[in-house]
Amino acid sequence: MIQKIEKLLNEIRSLSASSAEEVEALRIKYLSKKGEISSLMNDFRSVPAEAKRELGQKLNELKNAASEKIAALKEALADGADAEKGEIDLTRSATPLPLGTRHPLSIVKNEIFQIFGAMGFTIAEGPEIEDDWHVFSSLNFPPDHPARDMQDTFFISREKMDILLRTHTSSVQTRTMEKQQPPIRIICPGRVYRNEAISARAHCFFHQVEGLYIDKNVSFADLKQCLLYFAREMFGPETKIRLRPSYFPFTEPSAEMDISCHICGGKGCPFCKGTGWVEILGCGMVDPNVLEACGIDSKVYSGYAFGMGIERITNLKFRVKDLRMFSENDVRFLHEFEAAD
Ligand code: PHE
Repeated sequence: MIQKIEKLLNEIRSLSASSAEEVEALRIKYLSKKGEISSLMNDFRSVPAEAKRELGQKLNELKNAASEKIAALKEALADGADAEKGEIDLTRSATPLPLGTRHPLSIVKNEIFQIFGAMGFTIAEGPEIEDDWHVFSSLNFPPDHPARDMQDTFFISREKMDILLRTHTSSVQTRTMEKQQPPIRIICPGRVYRNEAISARAHCFFHQVEGLYIDKNVSFADLKQCLLYFAREMFGPETKIRLRPSYFPFTEPSAEMDISCHICGGKGCPFCKGTGWVEILGCGMVDPNVLEACGIDSKVYSGYAFGMGIERITNLKFRVKDLRMFSENDVRFLHEFEAAD
């Protein structure tokens, strides 16, 4: 009996079929009730008890091998059917290519571009390695302003303290004003650097979008309207804004802008620490000293400026808890934003 099983096993391993009918005939030959394997099963009953174990295992092996072979033959025929007919199914979807995802900061940056683009702002860019004039002096920072301290600014060399990594993209605004007379309406995106200890809430680099609008008769009301439009486009039409007096050397008056908490709608929740408001940006009317430093007549022109951190806006939108995740390049984190693009 064992020899018969071995013989059948070899036979089955080398089976082939060129049509569905042939496969069916093979199935009947081996696997049907009156097939070869069933008849072996019948013989198995009369096998002496001590041989049952070994023979039983062999029989099972044979049965499995036959079922798998018949299934494989069927599948091969189905796959080959189209090719045999000489037809290719052009409507069949292609094997999908695994696509990357846009970085969450890019998603939000593009949205910011779109919103300000609709208001006529164009994009201006500038260098990340800057000089003191464009980052501080032209922007009305007094010589002893703490922002120039070693704690805040990365200087390129100890000897030449004039060259540094920009701490904000206001330097791009200065460069634009030096080159171009009003009207000026730009947003300045880019990476900025500050000497901060890295933690979940702070990093030594982050990204900003700053804005500048200069023309005749630009007022604080224009600034407020522009930022209200931005907040509603970004966080929803119910969003309210609140301006709190603040200080920046390059704007006067200056303000910090809060939006009504988009999570609780302003009622107060753990996210807004019960206040109903979350801070999103700094802004103000461009100080006349800055206009004059860049060659623009402050008696004829006025303007407003604002600046926001893209990480901050992204955190508000997607509630990313740890700032470091933005620069770790962990694809598990990046894939979370697949649908947000
Ligand atoms: N430059 C400021 C900062 O980096 C932001 C700002 C820009 C504030 C323009 C007011 C006006 O914090």
